[in-house]
Amino acid sequence: VHQPMIAPSILSADFARLADEAAAVAGADWLHVDVMDAHFVPNLTIGLPVVKSLRAATDLPLDCHLMIEDPDRWAVGYAEAGAHNVTVHVEAAADPVRLAKDLRAAGAKAGLSLKPGTPLAPHLDVLKHYDTLLVMSVEPGFGGQGFMPEVLDKVREARRLVDTGHLTLLVEIDGGINADTIEQAAEAGVDCFVAGSAVYDAADPGAALERLRAQAAR
Ligand code: DX5
Ligand code: ZN
Repeated sequence: VHQPMIAPSILSADFARLADEAAAVAGADWLHVDVMDAHFVPNLTIGLPVVKSLRAATDLPLDCHLMIEDPDRWAVGYAEAGAHNVTVHVEAAADPVRLAKDLRAAGAKAGLSLKPGTPLAPHLDVLKHYDTLLVMSVEPGFGGQGFMPEVLDKVREARRLVDTGHLTLLVEIDGGINADTIEQAAEAGVDCFVAGSAVYDAADPGAALERLRAQAAR
């Protein structure tokens, strides 16, 4: 039986109490950290100093999702800060193959993210260098948006390529994952589910993430 991974997104947590908010989801597989620069996306969140502090404040592996321009310049800093997985956007990276090598050399897993409108096929050669494919199921920038089911074709395509040995990747989905949408994403072949508002808007975030995990079991 395939055990689904859940990565709560601290974008929906209380930024003044990040250590407590991480502790509230201690049963999670990864803690998803959304880094936004107000250029690649129209929102501004947190950066390297907060990730460094968070690294010391929790044992959870940090899954840093960089929604920033020029990840070629900044991403390795997150690996050096102790992120488990550093995900960059293919739409923003100038040399994604080089970047994946640099991330791995710095001790992190390398993730590549595609916005909802970005197809998979043109990036297959690049993806051979990556450990994680993050399929966005909302336009990146904000939590609490509605799930876009049309991205599930891309998930199925990625699942097929992994299952047939053409790619070695963990398939992750991000955006609008909740009790109403997680089952269709699981059925399409997702390995790791990011959930922000569905976890942190719940009265008991730890219980909410376990409910999602049970729903995603396939
Ligand atoms: C959106 C971020 C997501 C966000 C998801 O750009 O990348 O990680 O936190 O939030 P929900 O789960 O509420 O859609
Ligand atoms: Zn994210």
